[in-house]
Amino acid sequence: VFDVLIEIDVGMQRGGVRSVSEAVTLAQHIAGTGGIRFRGVQGYEGHCMLEPDRTVRVEKALRAMEHVMIVVDALAAAGFAADVVSGGGTGTYDITGAHPRVTELQAGSYVFMDAFHGTLVPGFDRSLTVLATCSGRHGQTVVFDAGRKSVGVDFAAPELVGHEHVAPGFFAEEHGLFDFSGAVPFDLGDRARIVPGYAPTTVNLYDVLHVVDGDVVVDVWPIVPRGPGRGLAAAE
Ligand SMILES: Cc1ncc(COP(=O)(O)O)c(C=O)c1O
Repeated sequence: VFDVLIEIDVGMQRGGVRSVSEAVTLAQHIAGTGGIRFRGVQGYEGHCMLEPDRTVRVEKALRAMEHVMIVVDALAAAGFAADVVSGGGTGTYDITGAHPRVTELQAGSYVFMDAFHGTLVPGFDRSLTVLATCSGRHGQTVVFDAGRKSVGVDFAAPELVGHEHVAPGFFAEEHGLFDFSGAVPFDLGDRARIVPGYAPTTVNLYDVLHVVDGDVVVDVWPIVPRGPGRGLAAAE
C-alpha cells in the first residue's frame, strides 16, 4: 500500500486541488481505491519564492499556509486526518518551516544555491559550479565553452567565481560570455568556475556530480533521476 498526499493549490495555479470540496472528494476517492492510503497534504507555495521583498514574501507564504490549514481542517472534519502537512522551499524554509502545523519542508535548492537563490535567502553557501574553459577573447569580452546547455539561466544570470561583479553577457547554447571592464584575467584555455543562475535546471543537464575538496575530486555521485526516461539507470 502506498501512502499518498493530496496536493493543494495554494496560489501557484499549477497542480493541486483548488477548493475544499475537491480535496474532500479526492480523499473519498483515495479511500475507495485499493493500493493507496491518504496520509496528508502538500501545498507548495512556489509563487512566493520569486518575491524579492522579504516582508511581502512572509505575508504571502503565511496566507498560503492559512489556506492549507483550512483544507486540512475540512479534511479532518470529513474523517481524513492529515499526518503529513508538507510545504516550503528554499525561499520560505524559515517562514513555512516555523508554522506550528507544518510537519515537512520540501526545500531543496539550499543544498547547492545559485545566483538566484543567493540573493533571496542568506545563510547558505553556493556549492554548485560548472567548470568552463575560455574558448575565445574579443577585447574585454571572454567567451567560455559553457552556455545554456551547461548552465541554468532561469530567474538570474550566472556568475563567475572570483569575479562576481563582472557582468554576464550573452548566454548562447554552447557559449557563455562575460564582459570585463578593467583587466581581463582569462586567456584561451584558462579554466573558470561558473555559478549557475538557477541550480535546479543545471543539475538535470549532467550524468554525475564531481564532489571537490579544493581542487581534488573526492567523489563522483551519479544523478540518477535526470532526463526523460530517468537517464543512465533506465539504460542499464
Ligand atoms: C513541489 C515543490 N516542492 C519543493 C520545491 C523546492 O523548492 P526550492 O528549490 O526552492 O528549494 C519545488 C521546486 O520547484 C517544488 O516544485
